[in-house]
Amino acid sequence: SQRGARLWLCALCCGRLARGQPDDGKRYICRAVPLSGDASCPVTLLPELSAGSQEEELRNTVMQLRETILQQKETISKQLGAINELTTKLSLCASASDDRKYDKGSSWGKDKQNTMGDVPRDPNDTIDSLGKTMQGLKDRLENLEQMRANISGAAFPSELRDLLQRRLGELENQLLKKVSNLEEEKSMLSNATAAYRLKTENTLNALVERISELEKGRPPHQFKLSLPQRTNYLYGRITKSLPEMYAFTLCMWIKSSASPGIGTPFSYGVPGQANEIVLIEWGNNPIELLINDKVAQLPIEVRDGKWHHICIAWTTRDGQWDAYQDGEKLGTGDNLAAWHPIKPGGVIILGQEQDVVGGRFDAGQAFVGELSQVNVWDRVLRPAEVRAMANCSAYMAGNVVSWLASNVEVFGRGAFKRPLEMCQERLPNA
Ligand SMILES: *[C@@H]1O[C@H](CO)[C@@H](O)[C@H](O)[C@H]1NC(C)=O
Ligand SMILES: *[C@@H]1O[C@H](CO)[C@@H](O)[C@H](O)[C@H]1NC(C)=O
Ligand SMILES: *[C@@H]1O[C@H](CO)[C@@H](O)[C@H](O)[C@H]1NC(C)=O
Ligand SMILES: *[C@@H]1O[C@H](CO)[C@@H](O)[C@H](O)[C@H]1NC(C)=O
Repeated sequence: SQRGARLWLCALCCGRLARGQPDDGKRYICRAVPLSGDASCPVTLLPELSAGSQEEELRNTVMQLRETILQQKETISKQLGAINELTTKLSLCASASDDRKYDKGSSWGKDKQNTMGDVPRDPNDTIDSLGKTMQGLKDRLENLEQMRANISGAAFPSELRDLLQRRLGELENQLLKKVSNLEEEKSMLSNATAAYRLKTENTLNALVERISELEKGRPPHQFKLSLPQRTNYLYGRITKSLPEMYAFTLCMWIKSSASPGIGTPFSYGVPGQANEIVLIEWGNNPIELLINDKVAQLPIEVRDGKWHHICIAWTTRDGQWDAYQDGEKLGTGDNLAAWHPIKPGGVIILGQEQDVVGGRFDAGQAFVGELSQVNVWDRVLRPAEVRAMANCSAYMAGNVVSWLASNVEVFGRGAFKRPLEMCQERLPNA
């Protein structure tokens, strides 16, 4: 038959090739010879399917895969390193914020900065790139399997086919192992990322809580000035001065157990008159109010180490004054610097008596204890307003001096601004 003749021709041709041609490492493929054709050998060279180049290609693939895997391992260990570093920083940060309670020995308002170290790389990127790498490896694996299927179907000598099959099998096993290693590393990385996220969230929550505590739970007047020792260098200074005034009310919360006297919680000196307004208790004298260096003794008594709310109201009209303690008016008088206007532009010092404006302090007259909500109004407050502040039903900010942390400067090592106890806790019978 025609078909038989063609096959025969082909076999003859291939036999001739096998006997006569040097082994050049290339494979030839036989095709049926058309009957009308001449006697030349109908062989087509198929270099792209030659075994040598295919092996080469496989070797290259393996090398490439090895390289990729090595690179991935390096990347992963770098990323794990970064995550460990972040975790360490975070735990440092978390323990630091746990420790940073208010009653540590540093100035409130200055130590609430939190640094969380470097901004971390987005952990999503890490996971994404690992995912892409694995997808790439899986694709290549499928390609190899396809190639193997192609090879087993092709007309290769059985030894070569077996060799290729074996190699591909090894390669496949290696790849599967690497992929599963990668899967595991990715899962570890995921877990580390999740743990890191949790930690970050916890830290952030703690910070947010503290911030909202500062913003809501602790309004800006909810701090105190603490002057724990009798020195001539611990004091607070109000950054605002007073205007000219024909009346005023000075209120404050005060706590002291100093003996014999509590010293000078408040002094206002102006050029030419260091004792323009002074509140002082020294020696065994009662608390005194000085206005323009004139003196009135006040029937208030606070040196029991508890918080007390005191207010002093004065008007130039007849030099009349009222003294309140814990919301009650305990005394009143007149002819204290009558018809004297309070001079403007001086300096308010908390905790020291000024012999010159803003200075020349005397440790013997220094206040020891705590002060808060030192407010000044340029009018005489009504008794009900004073009572409401003293019984915690209202807080009023002074219209000429308002108790804000930004208005109070602290001087001297050992002097602090600290959060103030809640009002109810400051009541005398609390
Ligand atoms: C990180 O991935 C999660 C889950 O896939 C996603 O909800 C979140 O928006 C991603 N974050 C960023 C910063 O891309
Ligand atoms: C395997 O053969 C199919 C069709 O025969 C072809 O599409 C595919 O590209 C081949 N794969 C390889 C890796 O040679
Ligand atoms: C990651 O966490 C999951 C579930 O929490 C767990 O099944 C898996 O074993 C963990 N992987 C590693 C590597 O620890
Ligand atoms: C506090 O004082 C104000 C003003 O006198 C008064 O109206 C209020 O009832 C008092 N509140 C308490 C809890 O004593």
